[in-house]
Amino acid sequence: MSRALDLAEPVFSASGSPYSPRYDEVYRDGAAGLQRARHVFLAGTGLPQAWGGRDQFVILEAGFGLGLNFLATWQAWRDDPRRCRRLHFVSVETHPFTSEGLAAVHASLDALAEFAPLAAELRAAWPLALPGLHRLEFEGGAVALTLAFGDIDAVLPRLVLGADAFYLDGFSPARNPDMWQPQLMKRLARLARPEATLATHVADSVFQRGLQAAGFAVSSVPGFGSEPPMTVARFPVMRGTRRQPPPPAAAWPERHAIVVGAGLAGCAVTERLAARGWRVTLFDAHDGPAQLTSAHRAAASGGGHAPGWQAAACCRPAPARRTPGSSRRPSPPWAFPRRSRAG
Ligand SMILES: C[S@@+](CC[C@H](N)C(=O)[O-])C[C@H]1O[C@@H](n2cnc3c(N)ncnc32)[C@H](O)[C@@H]1O
Repeated sequence: MSRALDLAEPVFSASGSPYSPRYDEVYRDGAAGLQRARHVFLAGTGLPQAWGGRDQFVILEAGFGLGLNFLATWQAWRDDPRRCRRLHFVSVETHPFTSEGLAAVHASLDALAEFAPLAAELRAAWPLALPGLHRLEFEGGAVALTLAFGDIDAVLPRLVLGADAFYLDGFSPARNPDMWQPQLMKRLARLARPEATLATHVADSVFQRGLQAAGFAVSSVPGFGSEPPMTVARFPVMRGTRRQPPPPAAAWPERHAIVVGAGLAGCAVTERLAARGWRVTLFDAHDGPAQLTSAHRAAASGGGHAPGWQAAACCRPAPARRTPGSSRRPSPPWAFPRRSRAG
């Protein structure tokens, strides 16, 4: 996870579509890209109806690519009067574009004109292409995009979240077999909330059997336009069979929190809760924030409270231990923890 990323380059096919030489496949074919996103991923996972009236809805995507699925989902959320209060889109991408690369591929897509303001907001918030988690917020925090830059194989075991829908959009199994191994389906099942839905353009029988073995109820349905059939799936209601069920969906009758202590940690928690629409009462014995150790310059510059909290929303905290005799520095609190050999 800590290795440098192998970034995507803006390269185009003879017909002008963004193309990946690494996988020898186009990302999306021109104008059809957004309609395909709506057919395969939104309709395939039962959206927008599935998030109707919900407090929170979490989508986990494999392969952020150009971000068309995210933009189509964000636009659908904006257009829907019954939208969930908070949409959290988590996307795993092993070869992200830089912001310049993303701008170049977006500029090549005429169809993106429909979403030009949203695409511009996305590019303006685009993070440095560094491994790990990056939280972007839009719509005053009501739409959160967590980009997990790294290989899905390394990222999924470390994510702690409950997904309501999965978009599987890596390149095809023929071009990208490593991604579509049965362990992917097992890892998705671990993160699936009861009744979670899944959609992908892939309808390969090996893949479908892997999904079934992981506990999903799987069907083939018509693909987009003249494309072959695609796969939709649903995770059944849990019957207590999973050792580590995902966290349940948030459903708070009253969004009021009390935070005790206005040091860096208390202030960071207060800021995050307020960004999610909570009313917060913050208590402190002093008459201002950060009056004790949090006022120390080192606490603000090296403590990492804010990123730690950010990552904690969907990632296990890292153990900050130092192995005796090892010269390795302890992981910062927002780093992905290493997997234990026993686990
Ligand atoms: C077809 S593109 C995704 C298109 C994208 N969802 C969109 O809406 O624009 C496939 C993406 O999957 C990414 N990918 C392939 N293998 C991956 C892996 N093992 N882990 C994470 N991402 C992967 C590729 O780098 C590429 O960006």
